[in-house]
Amino acid sequence: MQRITAILPLGLLLVACGDAPGDGSDTAVDAASTSTTGEAAAVTYWRDVKAILDAKCVGCHSPGNLAPFSLASYAEASAVASALPASLMTGTMPPWPPDAACGTYLHDRSIDDEARQTLLDWVELGAPEGDPADAPAPAQAPEPIEFDIDLQLPEPYTPTIAPDEYRCFLLPWPEDEETFITALSVTPGERQIVHHVIAFAVPPEQAETYRALDDADPDPGYLCYGGPGGDQVGGRIPWLGAWVPGGDPGDMPEGTGIKVQPGSLVAVQMHYHTYPGAKPDQSRIQIRTAASVDKVAVMMPFTNPAWVQGSEPMLIPAGEAGVVHSFTADVSNYLPLLFPDGGLQAGDPFVVHAAALHMHTRGVRGSLAVTGGQNSCLLDIPRWDFNWQGSYQLTAPVTVRPGDQLRLECEWDNTAANQPVENGVQMQPKDILWGEGTGDEMCLGIVYVTGV
Ligand code: HEC
Repeated sequence: MQRITAILPLGLLLVACGDAPGDGSDTAVDAASTSTTGEAAAVTYWRDVKAILDAKCVGCHSPGNLAPFSLASYAEASAVASALPASLMTGTMPPWPPDAACGTYLHDRSIDDEARQTLLDWVELGAPEGDPADAPAPAQAPEPIEFDIDLQLPEPYTPTIAPDEYRCFLLPWPEDEETFITALSVTPGERQIVHHVIAFAVPPEQAETYRALDDADPDPGYLCYGGPGGDQVGGRIPWLGAWVPGGDPGDMPEGTGIKVQPGSLVAVQMHYHTYPGAKPDQSRIQIRTAASVDKVAVMMPFTNPAWVQGSEPMLIPAGEAGVVHSFTADVSNYLPLLFPDGGLQAGDPFVVHAAALHMHTRGVRGSLAVTGGQNSCLLDIPRWDFNWQGSYQLTAPVTVRPGDQLRLECEWDNTAANQPVENGVQMQPKDILWGEGTGDEMCLGIVYVTGV
């Protein structure tokens, strides 16, 4: 941090401050005349900084939230001010992995250059407070989502299988009529062990089969590597939604929703990353429903089935960097499977509203695009970070037409330097294939699609 701030030319900082939108009462000041009491400071907490922190940081950096310290008040923000520049300048904070050159997304957490500079200037000036009367009117808070269904794992559970345990819990679906899910939010109970959560809708005709899996396991829920049926029950079970660290809890695109039949079960697959002394987890899932939607949506997983089956191994050799695997396919034949009620037929055009990528810890880069008749980037993550995965809602949904293909590409670094640390010990490189554990790898795209 010291190293980075030391190379900032102070004069430039002050010029930038002068350009900052003010309330008209700004006077030109030089660094010598500013004081930490903030009376004449060019950038103050109340006038310039609070609104930026509130918009870009406080969503995570507030008491009880994901981030380890709060930036929600002047006292809290000024106490840690000197720690902010390093993360701001390397771009690790706020966490926002998608490359802007690929697309733009709703709920963009990134910070623009001007706001970043304002924060840096403020720290450089000694984090002056200024006058609360200068504070701009607070930004209109987004309407909170009103959830109508509140589900919880049946009981607190402490995973025992290290380093990874995939465990499914079955939650009865409470509605007795056909319903559409229009928003789904997961609140992990124990953030240190919950690595991802995927909610599936088990249709009523399969509920008994799944209950039998649960009954056969003496512990709460049942082990389920791979999918909600584990390696015991095959078949495609529709996704409802997924949560990964840093993912936005939230609403699905306006007018769309995922259909759930009465008598269904919600199968919740928890990927626990287990370590000795882990505390029990009892995660919570909140859902908003609607009786009808304009367009029925599904979450479509996209990957090379041959990698999963092993007939064309997704080999990532031990010790190698720059290992790339890609897969391109026309997915239109898959549509009747995804829309079993006949909503979409093979060859129909469809719309991609949101895109996500999933790799494990050796992943370094990933992308998902529509190629063939068009060339549309859906998602590009140039610096993959397992801790900051998410599903990104496109501001301009992409229509996939006959002749188009989806293209998925992932790159890994399997050298000694890029191995994860398990229980305090850095792992040794080994040949890696497709698999469920964090010691294995995946290359999976997930798109949220509807008809045109
Ligand atoms: C989406 C949630 C989120 C947002 C938004 C966010 N942070 Fe963080 N921040 C975290 C978490 C979680 C950590 C803990 C380290 C980690 O997991 O990466 C963290 C850590 C930090 C750290 C400690 C050093 C580091 O990089 O780990 C700093 C400094 C920081 N954040 C500053 C900020 C600032 C300034 C903003 C707004 C401009 C911001 N953060 C926005 C979640 C967030």
